[in-house]
Amino acid sequence: MTDQAPTPYAGPKRVLSGVQPSGDLHLGNYLGALVKFARLQHEQPTFIFVADQHAITVWQDPKKLKDQVREIAAAYLATGLDPAVATIFPQSAVPEHAELAWIFNCVARLGWLDRMTQFKEKSGKHKERASVGLYTYPVLQAADILVYKATHVPVGEDQKQHLELTRDIAGKFNHDYDAPGFFPLPDPLTQGPGARVMSLRDGAAKMSKSDPSDNSRINLIDDADAIAQKIRKAKTDAEPLPETAEGLDGRPEAKNLVAIYAALAGSTEAEVLAEFAGQGFGAFKPKLADLAVSIMGPISAEMRRLKSDPGEIDRILTKGAEKARETAAPTLAEVKKLVGFWG
Ligand code: TRP
Repeated sequence: MTDQAPTPYAGPKRVLSGVQPSGDLHLGNYLGALVKFARLQHEQPTFIFVADQHAITVWQDPKKLKDQVREIAAAYLATGLDPAVATIFPQSAVPEHAELAWIFNCVARLGWLDRMTQFKEKSGKHKERASVGLYTYPVLQAADILVYKATHVPVGEDQKQHLELTRDIAGKFNHDYDAPGFFPLPDPLTQGPGARVMSLRDGAAKMSKSDPSDNSRINLIDDADAIAQKIRKAKTDAEPLPETAEGLDGRPEAKNLVAIYAALAGSTEAEVLAEFAGQGFGAFKPKLADLAVSIMGPISAEMRRLKSDPGEIDRILTKGAEKARETAAPTLAEVKKLVGFWG
């Protein structure tokens, strides 16, 4: 064995990401993830799935799970993912994920998983009562990504550690099975104007589906009235907007609303401030509400339309899963050969 740098992956670029079907999506998910998916699909082959296998790492009501999956799929479609361009599917409809995850369970080391901060947060004080699936969750995530040999993974900052683990698993698999460059070492794509959308009630907390106050977030399913009202009620301060972005330092609520405006308008905070400097929130909020309603209103209407016809979503997801398997099955077949498995 030598210490030479590992052979780099030479295959095509591919984008992959997924969202868990647990709880409603909000503006933070839209700006931080869904907008990026819709853009990236036109740049590289893109695989976007609903992570129902990850969802059951904590108990989910079987009577509701399919509807939760449809809800996320509706959000994907309503925010611009096009099933004729991207591959959109439920994770559980592509058995190759779970099969590769088993092999990766044997590649990943306990020490690696012991370092995962998300498991520590989610399992809380009683980790012996957490499911084993919650512990190996990041291994399944690695399989989600690598079964498509994805090279780019748009995710939030909180997923960076899972992407590191994915790279470690890919590297160790390539090494242990003498398959240089077989799996890519995928890169997270965390940048973007919507990377940190904060609560409308507390500029220091991230906008979150688990916040007990519904006024803290704009849900994708909120109608125009609800959107406008939540922005009207958003916490602010009494100062007018400053001339420069530095003037927002120490004013987290003001900064958040300006950042949301910029992200929705596709502009920068500096541009927003150039337009609104010197004006108070009495003037700024109605403008932000109008902008938010003009972008989020149609998304919410489209989600409602899609949800009223689950047949359409189900057809898209079934076709998407077939298409996904066309890429996943050959990868798994190669992996099984490398590992020395039957058939
Ligand atoms: N863990 C991700 C989250 O909670 C969801 C996810 C599962 C995912 N598998 C993935 C994201 C693969 C990107 C790639 O946000």
